Amino acid sequence: QTEEQEAYDQKLDAMIATLPKNKGWRSQYIFRYKGFWASREVIRGQLLIGDHFHPQPTDIFLAAFMKCGTTWLKALMFATVNRQRYNFSDHPLLRTGPQSVFPFLDTHIFLDHPITNFDHLPAPRLFATHNAHSSLPTSMTSPASTCKFVYVCRDPKDALISKWHFMRKLRSKELPPISFNEAFELFCNGVSEYGPFWDHVLGYWKASQESPEKILFLKYEDMKREPTVELKKLAAFMGTPFTEEEEKKGVVEEIVKLCSFENLSNLEVNKGGGGGQKFTAKVVVENREFFRKGKVGDWENYLTEEMKNRIDTITINRLKDLTQNT
Ligand code: A3P
Repeated sequence: QTEEQEAYDQKLDAMIATLPKNKGWRSQYIFRYKGFWASREVIRGQLLIGDHFHPQPTDIFLAAFMKCGTTWLKALMFATVNRQRYNFSDHPLLRTGPQSVFPFLDTHIFLDHPITNFDHLPAPRLFATHNAHSSLPTSMTSPASTCKFVYVCRDPKDALISKWHFMRKLRSKELPPISFNEAFELFCNGVSEYGPFWDHVLGYWKASQESPEKILFLKYEDMKREPTVELKKLAAFMGTPFTEEEEKKGVVEEIVKLCSFENLSNLEVNKGGGGGQKFTAKVVVENREFFRKGKVGDWENYLTEEMKNRIDTITINRLKDLTQNT
């Protein structure tokens, strides 16, 4: 580390020491920063994004709360935007897995030394983020910016189950495990990385209502039910609508099939130690951890009636507009 970086990190740690802290699901602690819970690394990333990331007018960001469909959308967006460049039979997704096809901005910003430069990426550049809308710099989110966002949300009950499984695996073995009951309690209180879940959804929902041309709001459940309909919406939003000829040729179905849970989760690269997502210098998550069941309603196998009602009540109260409008 250079002296400059050390000074930066010291300032960061001094600031973090002033923040409310609570139990992390992966790391020991998470901190409440600007209304959302985040690990030290994610806060560091947010500051660096604000100071050093230069959005380009054609950038497209995939945003989601953790475990709501980032992997799936990464594959769909990459395959759709680049459909002229690659053959479906010899596609990069078949060899590298969805995580590697475009950067996860939140921590990738500091993976290269001293800061990652994304200038070499072809336009439109694609990035993924779990950061809340209000945690991102106005250079990305203000009405003057032409960057687009694709937000995918999911039933919080399924997001909770998926996140508990995922974080349990990533959690340091030196820390005591988090029981499901404890995770449930923390989740309901909004305490988990990038939480509260409901505020996260609401931030993007409101922004999508204000600027529908800038933010496309998708739901995991709709995508499962009608993938071709949702993919056509996605393609049109990204500025690469399918032509009539493409539709006749079955290109939409081809992309849906390529990116399906069944197809991706059975590829060698996503099954074994074929690669993974590097979150920080120390945290690398193997591709296979991003594929579990890929189903709607797995919560039924975990939640009691009382637990289900508790989450549903929060959702109805907090996301009134959203649940009424759709
Ligand atoms: P489950 O744990 O419920 O199975 P993320 O990609 O945001 O981390 O979310 C991971 C969740 O999406 C996991 O949910 C995972 O199985 C599911 N998933 C991954 N790839 C998928 C795909 N191609 N289609 C549908 N679901 C997928």
